[in-house]
Amino acid sequence: MATSTASPQTQSYNHLPTTLASSTHPILLRTLEPEDNVAFAAILSDPRNTEHEAGSPPDHMELSVATGAIARMRDSAAAPTVVSAPEESGLGKVLSGPGRVNLAIVYLGGDAAGSVIGLGGFGSIKDLSRATGEPVADVAAEPFERVGDVGAMVNAEYRGRGFAAEAVRLAMEWGFAPAGRGGLQLDRITATTRAANAPMVRVLAKFGWEGRAVPAQGPEGKDELTYSMRADEWEARSRK
Ligand SMILES: CC(C)(COP(=O)(O)OP(=O)(O)OC[C@H]1O[C@@H](n2cnc3c(N)ncnc32)[C@H](O)[C@@H]1OP(=O)(O)O)[C@@H](O)C(=O)NCCC(=O)NCCS
Repeated sequence: MATSTASPQTQSYNHLPTTLASSTHPILLRTLEPEDNVAFAAILSDPRNTEHEAGSPPDHMELSVATGAIARMRDSAAAPTVVSAPEESGLGKVLSGPGRVNLAIVYLGGDAAGSVIGLGGFGSIKDLSRATGEPVADVAAEPFERVGDVGAMVNAEYRGRGFAAEAVRLAMEWGFAPAGRGGLQLDRITATTRAANAPMVRVLAKFGWEGRAVPAQGPEGKDELTYSMRADEWEARSRK
């Protein structure tokens, strides 16, 4: 983690690159590199990985599309988290930060050690008004929460070994960690999944989350479950 002082009142913390190591599973999470384009295209070209995605994802992703997507993801991840001077709590307020930080799930075991076997991290991070829940245009103008949406996708050959649950846990631990310790300092983490996606529902249930049902929107819509956890709820859970 590189640190630079943006002004005497603010601190700025970079997230590119980030690596999150697991102490329990042979995986790590890290920010995507341009060289991940082949694995990225393969992951998103596998219909077993995209069957629960909205719309009709193409069954083949061109390498150039993967290269462009990774470049955009790296651009987003390159935005530092900027924090105001520490308040009474010891933490400053996040004034701005990345709009998403996508992470590669890397397998560390066996012959395939070092392979990217899935994707995780935060596909979107938003500043939402505490009053309306809508994105705020000006963070100085009204109280807001910084909310990250966590997700996971694991290649079929590597499923059922707890990798998705560990990838979500690592991302959440990092997402809630203070910016001064390299984290994203989020106030809340959400997740959304199709109600029919039994493996993902099972993964999210492991965090004590109970999904709130959101009925299908429109004729093509599918029932979804949304999950939401505040930083203090996560901390209380981690202390147990
Ligand atoms: C959802 C997904 C990430 C889970 O990956 P994984 O590495 O297999 O997850 P884990 O091993 O951590 O846990 C999976 C759990 O689901 C359970 N499970 C698997 N198939 C199931 C099914 N058909 N019905 C119910 N539970 C199921 C497993 O038994 C396991 O629970 P357990 O540990 O209590 O036994 C993976 O299936 C995937 O990539 N799916 C496609 C992408 C996707 O839909 N992502 C979610 C988008 S919101």
